[in-house]
Amino acid sequence: SQRIPLVAGNWKMNFDHLEATYFVQQLAWKLRDIHFDYRHCEIALMPSFTSLRSVQVLVESDNLKIRYGAQAVSVTSQGAFTGDVSADMIAHLGCSYVIVGHSERRKYHPEDDANIVDQVRAVLAAGMQPILCVGESYEERRKGIELDFAVGQVHDVTRDLSDEEASRLIVAYEPVWAIGTGMVATPQSAQDAAKAIRDDLSATFGIHVGEAVRILYGGSVSSKNAEELIGEPDVDGFLIGGAALNVDELTRICQLT
Ligand code: G3H
Repeated sequence: SQRIPLVAGNWKMNFDHLEATYFVQQLAWKLRDIHFDYRHCEIALMPSFTSLRSVQVLVESDNLKIRYGAQAVSVTSQGAFTGDVSADMIAHLGCSYVIVGHSERRKYHPEDDANIVDQVRAVLAAGMQPILCVGESYEERRKGIELDFAVGQVHDVTRDLSDEEASRLIVAYEPVWAIGTGMVATPQSAQDAAKAIRDDLSATFGIHVGEAVRILYGGSVSSKNAEELIGEPDVDGFLIGGAALNVDELTRICQLT
């Protein structure tokens, strides 16, 4: 397809700004050593808010091709919202992406569909791309309703977007039972979910949007399973947690993608 794969590392609440910049520098060196071609695969890291400025300074001063983003965003643009960070603040740090609706945010913070729609809109309005996370829990999978569940999550959040807005989305299919467990979805089930999500986007916004949106797989991705997963036609890359904390492992995954 014409979609450029994306390998996105979600660091969650790991690494302070010194560790973050050290890691980015190491990764850039390792990718340079293997003559990594960034035109064929985008690499992005999602550090904590506290590291974004340091990562920006490093990326700009060394002219690195690694992109970066945030892990969540406020739905409001400014004002009396103690502890929140606006989309413009994130965009002004040179961020390309913001993760929206990660299952850990849905679980530990009051993020429901209405809030997630507003985050998606805020990210798009600031000129960045949201990485919208969806995926069933073990319970839905046991009932055999995982595809309907994941498609429904995407549909509910995206249906009121314009075609242009929808075309800038990135979706991450992350079955909750696969996150941080070592239990990875089979390539076939990752493909089935990605295809079902793409078909729904095509039905809602037209085939040009469905074909443009990148759909990532997330959940226990490692250098052992990345190659098989990326072989599936509708899997356009990865959202990686644990394996993105190890620079050799992440380099290897980039190489395989
Ligand atoms: O955002 C990343 C996912 O939650 C996956 O985490 O690769 O540690 O399973 P994991």
